[in-house]
Parts: sequence; structure tokens; C-alpha cells
Amino acid sequence: MSEIKLDPYLQAYAHRMRGATASEIRALFSVASRPEVVSLAGGMAYTAALDFDAVAEVTQEVLRRDGPTALQYGGGQGMPELRERLVEVMAVEGGAAHPDDLVVTTGGQQALDLIAKLFCDPGDVVLAEGPTYVGALSALSTYQPQVIHLPMDEEGLIPEALAQALEYLAANGRRAKFLYTVPNHQNPAGVSLSPKRREQIVDLALTHNLLVVEDNPYGLLDFKGEVRTPLAALAPEQVIYVGTLSKILSPGLRVGWIAASPPIRDKLILLKEAADLSQSNLTQHIAERWFATQPWLEQIEAFREVYRERCDAMLEALATDFPPGCTWSVPTGGFFVWLRLPPGLNSGELLAQALNARVAYVPGRAFYADDSGSDAMRLSFCYPTPEQIRAGVARLAEVVREEIELVRAVYGDREP
Ligand SMILES: Cc1ncc(COP(=O)(O)O)c(C=O)c1O
Repeated sequence: MSEIKLDPYLQAYAHRMRGATASEIRALFSVASRPEVVSLAGGMAYTAALDFDAVAEVTQEVLRRDGPTALQYGGGQGMPELRERLVEVMAVEGGAAHPDDLVVTTGGQQALDLIAKLFCDPGDVVLAEGPTYVGALSALSTYQPQVIHLPMDEEGLIPEALAQALEYLAANGRRAKFLYTVPNHQNPAGVSLSPKRREQIVDLALTHNLLVVEDNPYGLLDFKGEVRTPLAALAPEQVIYVGTLSKILSPGLRVGWIAASPPIRDKLILLKEAADLSQSNLTQHIAERWFATQPWLEQIEAFREVYRERCDAMLEALATDFPPGCTWSVPTGGFFVWLRLPPGLNSGELLAQALNARVAYVPGRAFYADDSGSDAMRLSFCYPTPEQIRAGVARLAEVVREEIELVRAVYGDREP
């Protein structure tokens, strides 16, 4: 008989750690990384598409030219020359920040953690899309706000739902600390906010003095190379912008950034210094030289091509293999497809069968703070090859088909 082991340190932990458990994704990784399993679960960038000779050249140049500085501590705000390059990256999408407004962080993930730390006390309200990025939920959960999800459709977050939530909160004497949104190729829903809705959401934010945290890792990964105006460009003082090099260069560099108005920026620098003194100076130098000397837009184009081909493979396989009653988003960029199951099926319960059938995905519940999402799953097409994607989707379709038949046998024509 297996013994249930209690954590002997339970009484020692801070209140904020209550309910903190490993994410469903982490628990999955050990099984999903077995070679026989096709993982449609992780959101890993396909770094093999990088020009490694170019990365090696840049890294050598950094060490030969700037070794003593690159291997030294850096300033809390981040390397000034890199901030200038990051502003150039933002400009491709119409962003217009000043290098002084940027704080360099350990990826977008640390940016989210610092923002949550800056604004959230226990019980505060944060608004977010439903579903939303699982890493944002874990960053937020440490500071214990109440996350209220807002619905989306194929044009992204629904402004009327935001308006209703703001009115409801005001009527109850409460206000949201901020709206967290991923407007481009959302993780996990795979949809982008339409231009009209960008304006509507910014108008609402300005009218209600609502801060917006705009998280944009996938904006430059549109399959057709289209770009969409950042919310931050529409209302720079109302929007805190989070960027990252993880999807357009390398997640291993761990370089992200926040662009915020000066009072917020100054507080974020204090928090960044308290967290880790400064961003790795070495990777900042490498990133700076990458953008200064390499054809970086061509590299992004190469990434886009890889992901477009993989997304096409997934959408074709879903259309061919999946049984009626299932629906899915049709991404125009990014890494993810959001798939909805017919009534009576639960993506969490189905996972064990899927893993037995050698395919992994992330159950929809991971992307909600309120336990909804069990009718959905996230499928990622960023890492596996098109052949692996086709095999994985076929295996998953078989698992889903068997489960539909089981539900039908049990419930007949009644609603499950
Ligand atoms: C929406 C979103 N935000 C932030 C991140 C954090 O990425 P990183 O810390 O590598 O920049 C990710 C990573 O997958 C993401 O999908």
C-alpha cells in the first residue's frame, strides 16, 4: 500500500503558498517527454530553426570585444544599448516607447511576476481573458488576487464583457487592479484582437482608469507577416507592455522587457533589483549584438515559415481525423490551437487515455483560475514536426472518438 506523505514544512510556509501546486503542465512534462509520445503539450520555440553560426559569431564578438563588461553585473534597468534595440523591435508593430521607459527582465515571465508583485494584494481583482496564459496565472497566484475571466470569440476579448465586468465591480464598490491580455495569437486560444476591439478596449480602459497589461510574445509570428497596433501605442500611459525575445530569437537567453510610464517603471526597477540585482549582462550583450549586426527580421521570417507549415499540418489533420462535435480555433499565427470537445467529455479525464495512446496535450482547466475549461484542450504545433503532428492528431482523434461512443452508449439521446 502506498503511504501518503505529508509535507513536514507545511506550518512553515507563508500564507501565499497555500494552494500552490505544480501546474498540470509541469506534471505532464515527465511523461510527455518520452520519445514515443508526440507532445502537443509544450509551448517550446523551435530553436533548431535558428542560425547557430550567426549566434556563435555574435557570442564570440561579445566576449572578444566586451568580455569584462559582459561578464560583470549590469544596471537594474537593463543595458541602455539593448533597450534601444528593443524599441526598434517594438517599432515593427507600431510601438513607440522610449528606451528610458523600458526595464529588461528575465523573460516575459519575470515581467509578469514583477507586475503582479507591484499591484496585487490578496483579494484584489485582476481581469483576464478566459482562457488565459497559465504562466500569468501562476505569477498572479503568489500574490493572491481574485482573477475574473472575460470571454473571447474569434475576434478576441469581447469589449461588452469587459464593460459589464467594470460596471459590476463599480456597483459593488470594487475596482480591478488591471486587465491582463494577450492580444496577438493568444496563448492558449489562438485568436487575435480585432483592430476595432483594440480601440474599444482602450476607450474602456481610459474611461474607467483601468490599467492594462499587454503581453505580446507572438505579435511578430503572424503567418502572413501582418502586424497589429499594440494597445500600448493607443494609450501609452494606460498600458504596461510586456515583450520577450523568447519566440523571435531564443527562450534560453531569458531576455524580456516591460515598457511602462516613468512612475511605474521606477517601481519596477526597484523590484527587479530586489529580485536579482540585474538581468544577465552576457545575454543582454548577445541580444544587443544580434539586433545590431544580424538580419533578425529574416530569422523571424524563418520561424514564421516553420510555424505556418506546422499549423497547416495540424489544421488539416484535425479536419480529416476529428469526429463531428469537436470545434477548434484557426490560428493566423503563434503556437496554439484551442480545441473544444462535445458535451460529456472532460479533457482532464481523457489525458491518461491520450498518454496511453502516446499523445500529450494540456487540459483546458490549466488556463483558468476558476476550474472551468474541462471541455477544452490546448494543442501546440510549435515543436513537433508536421509528420509527428499528423501522427499525434490521429492518435488523439481515436481517443476522442472512443470516448464519444462511450458517452453515447451511456446517455443515448439524453444530455450528458
Ligand atoms: C503569453 C505568454 N506570456 C509570457 C510568456 C513567457 O515567456 P518568456 O518568459 O520565455 O518570455 C509566454 C511563454 O510561453 C507566453 O506564452
